[in-house]
Amino acid sequence: GSGVPPSGVCPAGHLDRVRADGGEQPLTTNQGVPVADNQNSLKVGLRGPTAMEDFILREKITHFDHERIPERVVHARGSAAHGYFESYQDLSAITRAAPFAEAGKRTPVFVRFSTVAGERGSADTVRDVRGFAVKFYTDEGNWDLVGNNIPVFFIQDAMKFPDLIHSVKPEPHNGIPQAASAHDTFWDFVTLMPESTHMLMWHLSDRAIPRSYRTMQGFGVHTFRLVNADGASVFCKFHWTPVGGTHSLVWDEAAKIIGADPDYHRRDLWEAIEAGAYPEWELGLQLFTEEQAEQFPFDVLDPTKIVPEELVPVQPVGKMTLNRNPDNFFAETEQVAFCTAHIVPGIDFTNDPLLQGRIHSYLDTQISRLGGANFHEIPINAPLAPVHNNQRDGMHRQAVHRGRVAYEPNSLGGGCPFQAGMAGFTTAFSRMPQPLEDKVRGKPELFADHYSQARLFWISQTPAEQAHIVNAYRFELSRVQVPAIRVRLLSMLANVDPILAEGVAQGLGLEVPDPMPLASHAPAPQYEPSPSLSLLTR
Ligand code: HEM
Repeated sequence: GSGVPPSGVCPAGHLDRVRADGGEQPLTTNQGVPVADNQNSLKVGLRGPTAMEDFILREKITHFDHERIPERVVHARGSAAHGYFESYQDLSAITRAAPFAEAGKRTPVFVRFSTVAGERGSADTVRDVRGFAVKFYTDEGNWDLVGNNIPVFFIQDAMKFPDLIHSVKPEPHNGIPQAASAHDTFWDFVTLMPESTHMLMWHLSDRAIPRSYRTMQGFGVHTFRLVNADGASVFCKFHWTPVGGTHSLVWDEAAKIIGADPDYHRRDLWEAIEAGAYPEWELGLQLFTEEQAEQFPFDVLDPTKIVPEELVPVQPVGKMTLNRNPDNFFAETEQVAFCTAHIVPGIDFTNDPLLQGRIHSYLDTQISRLGGANFHEIPINAPLAPVHNNQRDGMHRQAVHRGRVAYEPNSLGGGCPFQAGMAGFTTAFSRMPQPLEDKVRGKPELFADHYSQARLFWISQTPAEQAHIVNAYRFELSRVQVPAIRVRLLSMLANVDPILAEGVAQGLGLEVPDPMPLASHAPAPQYEPSPSLSLLTR
């Protein structure tokens, strides 16, 4: 079991052993030496210089001097909470992932919501994508579903991620502007990158100014695989849907709140949980086979595409409840390390080239952000499942391994772990076999259709929502200094919808230029419903 009591209150859990409470205790140094005077440094005479030997002063100041760690290179600003995920049913026919083993099973989670572009102290209600990262402390290790509140992404290949982020961050010579998107470099890059068209539609919609973290959807974005105990697998898209509904601010509200209360989302999440109004999300799955995927008029490995719900419905499989605020922002929210490489038996990657790059990036950045290779031992990152291996040493190692053997295979025994899969272990992680082809730098042909789904999003919006999108493009482009960038954007929008392009152009006093040339002649998608998997019983 997961250790979460049926009462629904997430317990203090594995953080118990590290909770520190100094109330009513004598003040000490870090060496446990009692301190008599915490107000005055040791001086050579009452009006003299401070003595070098004042180790109490020096320890206190030295520690203070090193209190800061680097902020996340993206998603620096965020808020988090504890809770649990409860499965509605036994999904073992589809996946052997532990959280779905039986109806009513609870798995503890820690969830961090974030903006992407802003710095650690930036405002909450800016126009930006929101991170939605869930760490499941499963019986078979940690599973991190590191998603966003928008189901697609700007780029199709990890190779472009540093360029995308360099374009969206404050401009390097003057650090202006700190707002997520309103500047030349961002619009320069994305208009040279037509694959971003679909994501831009979401980004300029009300989705990018959520009312609260509690009213955001979350998406795994990439296509993943679910694998059952027999090794049979289906493709899967993950959806989190807020039980309280999906709601956004309007731009005027968002802009005012940025000034009046930059902590608006952080405060809202904290206060809701303190008041017992626990936010809840339903987890839904879109399940489809490889054969179905081959019939779709888009490539399921392309993260700029959704799988429309007309093709594959979203089936609810469980509910997540956040019911406990962290005790300490730094120890938990700041030090938590999510990673797309953290998957467990029953979940597998696909070859989505954006996901493949992410698998490398998170661990790599965390080695520098969290100071070395042992940050998996930081309590918020440590799994509830036992950890045994022959990895040793490194900065700040906490575990005290015993015995002379730290290698495998060995014949000396002495407390050394053995490979799961031996000695009757059946639950070890194994990857789905995949056919391999020759190495090539390039992309599949269907990746070249940049506009069909952007149009699908546009026509799915109500007239009021469409007006918000037009106004958002006008606002953003009115701040772009370079005329050629504005024209390039209008030529992209001309491929999405003439009314959209015309509406934006009018607001800027411009003519709609010729549509941007299409990258290839990919067939126009038909969003015909096709039979979906009805593997779920609910
Ligand atoms: C955070 C890289 C795309 C969601 C991060 C961090 C890095 C990173 C380096 C900081 C991690 C840390 O310091 O702990 C990348 C790369 C991407 C990519 C290289 C593309 C190749 C995406 C996509 C999503 C996403 C497509 C959504 C599906 C997140 C989230 C966080 C994050 C939610 C914040 C996690 C937290 O709350 O701590 N990313 N990212 N990223 N990324 Fe990505």
